[in-house]
Amino acid sequence: MNFAGWRAGLLCLLLLAGIGFLYTASALRGPANRIQSPEVLHKAGSLLHDYASSAKTFDGTTPYCPASLGDDKIALIVKTGATEALERIPTQLVTSLRCVQHPIIVSDLEQTLGRHRIHDVLANIAPEDKDENPEFNIYRKQHEYVTSGRATELRSLSSLPISQDDWRTKGKTAAWGLDKYKFLHMVEKAWELQPQRDWYVFIEADTYISWPNLHSFLEHYDAQKPWYFGSAVLMHEHKPTILHFAYGGSGFILSGSVVKDWAINHSGLANRWDKRISEMWFGDFVLADALDEELQVTITDATPMMHPDEPALVPFGADTWCKPVATLHHLDSRQINELYQTEMALNSSHLRFKDVYRSAYLAGLPFRLDDQDNLADDHKFAIDVIPNDMERFHGQWEPKDLVDPNQSYNACELACIQNDGCFQFSFVTTTANEADGGTQCFLSSVFRLGRRRELEKWFDKKTKISYQRNWISGWRSDRISRWIEEHERCI
Ligand SMILES: *[C@@H]1O[C@H](CO)[C@@H](O)[C@H](O)[C@H]1NC(C)=O
Ligand SMILES: *[C@@H]1O[C@H](CO)[C@@H](O)[C@H](O)[C@H]1NC(C)=O
Ligand SMILES: *[C@@H]1O[C@H](CO)[C@@H](O)[C@H](O)[C@H]1NC(C)=O
Repeated sequence: MNFAGWRAGLLCLLLLAGIGFLYTASALRGPANRIQSPEVLHKAGSLLHDYASSAKTFDGTTPYCPASLGDDKIALIVKTGATEALERIPTQLVTSLRCVQHPIIVSDLEQTLGRHRIHDVLANIAPEDKDENPEFNIYRKQHEYVTSGRATELRSLSSLPISQDDWRTKGKTAAWGLDKYKFLHMVEKAWELQPQRDWYVFIEADTYISWPNLHSFLEHYDAQKPWYFGSAVLMHEHKPTILHFAYGGSGFILSGSVVKDWAINHSGLANRWDKRISEMWFGDFVLADALDEELQVTITDATPMMHPDEPALVPFGADTWCKPVATLHHLDSRQINELYQTEMALNSSHLRFKDVYRSAYLAGLPFRLDDQDNLADDHKFAIDVIPNDMERFHGQWEPKDLVDPNQSYNACELACIQNDGCFQFSFVTTTANEADGGTQCFLSSVFRLGRRRELEKWFDKKTKISYQRNWISGWRSDRISRWIEEHERCI
C-alpha cells in the first residue's frame, strides 16, 4: 500500500481546502507563447524578516490605522457571495477593515450593507456566457429569491450542491462552483471604482488581514513594478510550463502597475476569458493563468506572512514564531474578532505568529487526543523515525514500548522524546480487509492542534480491498511550553 503517496495527496487536498489539486489546462490554453524556466517561484521571505526584526512601531497617536499609506494608495477588495455576505462582512468591517474608508465589496448579488454597496461582478459577464451554463443556476435562483420576497432564504442556498459533480469537486457547493467566475471581473471592477491606486489587495470574507503589517510589507516594494504577491501553491497539471498561483483565501496583492497594464492594454480581458472558465476548477488559478498568459506576471511567494489556514493548522515553530502575520484564512467571525482584539492589545507592535498562538491556544496543547490529526505527517516538517535506543531507556520504559516506533503509540512517543527537535507526533493505524494493514509513527518539528479526524473507511475498487484508518495525536506539551518561554521575545 502506498501510504505516503496517499497521504501526500490527501494533505495537498487539505491544504488547498477544497480547491482541488489537479488541473487539466492543456486542452484549454492557447499555444504557449512563453516558456518559463522551472525556477519560477520567487520568495518575499528575507525582506519580511528584515522588517519584522526592525521592531518598528506605529505612530503612537494612531496605533492601529497607519498614516503612512493612506486609503488613497491602497484599494482593498473583499470577495464574498450572496449566501454569506451579510453574516460575515459586518465583523470584518468593524475589526480588521476598520481603517479602510472605502472597501470594495464584490459578490454575486447586488446588495447594500449599511453605507456600503455590494457589487455583483458577475453582471459584467455576457448573457450568452451564463444563460446555458448550469453553474449559474444558483445565480439565477438568488435573483429569483430576491425579487419574489424570499431573500431570507438566500442563506439556505449555501448548502445547494455543485451542479457538475466529478471526483475533483466532490462535496463542493454550488456557491463554490460559481466563485471562480468572479476573479477576473473583480480586478477590472477594482480599477473601475478606484483607478490609479498603488496597490490592490484582495481578500475573502473569512480572511483576517492585519492592516498595519500589510502596510509595513508594501512599503518595501515599488508599486511601479509588476508585483503579484500571495501564498504560492503549485499547479501540477499546468502544461507545458510550471505555474504557481496565489491561494485565494489568504489573499493576493497586485501592484498598481499590473492592474493598470491590464485595464489599459488588455481591456476586455475578463470577458475574453469567461468562455474558458467553465472548464477550469477554481478562480485563484484562473487569475494566475491569466496574469501569466496575458501580462507575463508570475507570483512572488509571501508565505508564511500570507497564510492559507486558521490557527489550528499553522505550523508553529522556529520558522514562523517571530514572523509577522498579514493574513490568515478560514476564520469565522468569532476568530476574526479574537485576532483583532489580540492585535489591538499589542499596543502598536507587529502582530506575529507567536501572538496568534497565544490568542488561539490559551490553555496550551494537550498531551494526547484520539481521533485527532495534528498533521505530524506533513513532510515539510517531518523528523526521521529511527529505532528507539533500548540501552538508554532500559528500566525506565516497559520492554513492550522499547520496540520499533512504528509499532505502538508509546514507542512512537518515546521516539519523539529522544529527538530534542520533536514537538509532536501522530500514530496512524490502518486495517485492510479487517486484517492488520500496518501502523505508522510520524514525528514533527512544529506544533499545532490540527483537526478532528474520526475513523475513515474507504474501498479501493482496483484491488477490492476495504480500508479503515484512525489517527491518534500526541504532543510533548512540556517541551512546547519550555520552548515558548525561551522564545518569549523576538529580537
Ligand atoms: C502598454 O503597453 C505598452 C507597449 O508594450 C507599454 O509601453 C506600456 O507601458 C503599457 N501600459 C501600461 C499601463 O502598462
Ligand atoms: C498596552 O498598554 C496598556 C496601557 O498603556 C498596558 O496596560 C498594557 O499592558 C500594554 N499591553 C502590552 C501587551 O504591552
Ligand atoms: C517507520 O516507517 C517509516 C515509513 O515507512 C520508515 O521510513 C522508518 O524507517 C520506520 N522506522 C523504523 C524505526 O522502522
